[in-house]
Amino acid sequence: MPSRVPSRVPADGEVVVRLTDVRKDFGDCTALDGVSLEIRAGEAVAVMGPSGSGKSTLLNLVSGLDRPSAGSVVVGGEDLGALGEKGLALFRRHRVGMVFQFFHLLDDLPALDNVALVGQLDGLGARAARQRATELLEGLGIADRGDVHPASLSGGERQRVAVARALMNRPALLLADEPTGALDTRSGEAVVELLTDLHALGQTLVLVTHDARLAERCASRVVEVVDGRIAGARAVRRDR
Ligand SMILES: Nc1ncnc2c1ncn2[C@@H]1O[C@H](COP(=O)(O)OP(=O)(O)OP(=O)(O)O)[C@@H](O)[C@H]1O
Ligand SMILES: [Mg+2]
Repeated sequence: MPSRVPSRVPADGEVVVRLTDVRKDFGDCTALDGVSLEIRAGEAVAVMGPSGSGKSTLLNLVSGLDRPSAGSVVVGGEDLGALGEKGLALFRRHRVGMVFQFFHLLDDLPALDNVALVGQLDGLGARAARQRATELLEGLGIADRGDVHPASLSGGERQRVAVARALMNRPALLLADEPTGALDTRSGEAVVELLTDLHALGQTLVLVTHDARLAERCASRVVEVVDGRIAGARAVRRDR
């Protein structure tokens, strides 16, 4: 169970993400078309839908990795369309944490440094960054793996390191694209539990996933994307 609540959490219910009539074209291909969506603080939204339907495109717009062809993307009150490249890079560093299917860890650095580096890039001193990274790894149950390089970690451990890295700068919003997609059942289970615990601690999450187990266990709402449009949304009832 993660021991710390990320500290830049906005008030519960505040709109954290607002997409308005968003369109995204890649050449002749329209990946998203007329997407409007609001996500509030404390929600865990699972974005589901067929392959090629536009889920990753949607997430990349919210994370500021990409820009819409039309429409607006506002995250944490920041209109991403108004930001230049430098502003977007700062936005990505401070406001969102990202987790990917294939971890995207730096192979040359041990786990702890992969996490600490993000804090150092953000101006934290080396000692303070390592301290926070250590706490995060502890909270995620992998403190003993800090000295190990990613190549020697299991998939589940790698993904937990990636989650720790994503949480390093206390983002208001944690975004994950197929976080269990490359994991075996058991490792996937550990990541499902981790994300579920983070949500219970108040972390706002947006998860792109094909994993029905992840959606049912972790999400408070499932949004269905089909052919670049929002085809439906439902709240997930939870008895836990
Ligand atoms: N950089 C790109 N250049 C050209 N076309 C792209 C690019 N990124 C995505 N697309 C196209 O946009 C559409 C949506 O892609 P996207 O990656 O968002 O789908 P997805 O729902 O995430 O699929 P999957 O479940 O397979 O990951 C697809 O037709 C894809 O080929
Ligand atoms: Mg995708």
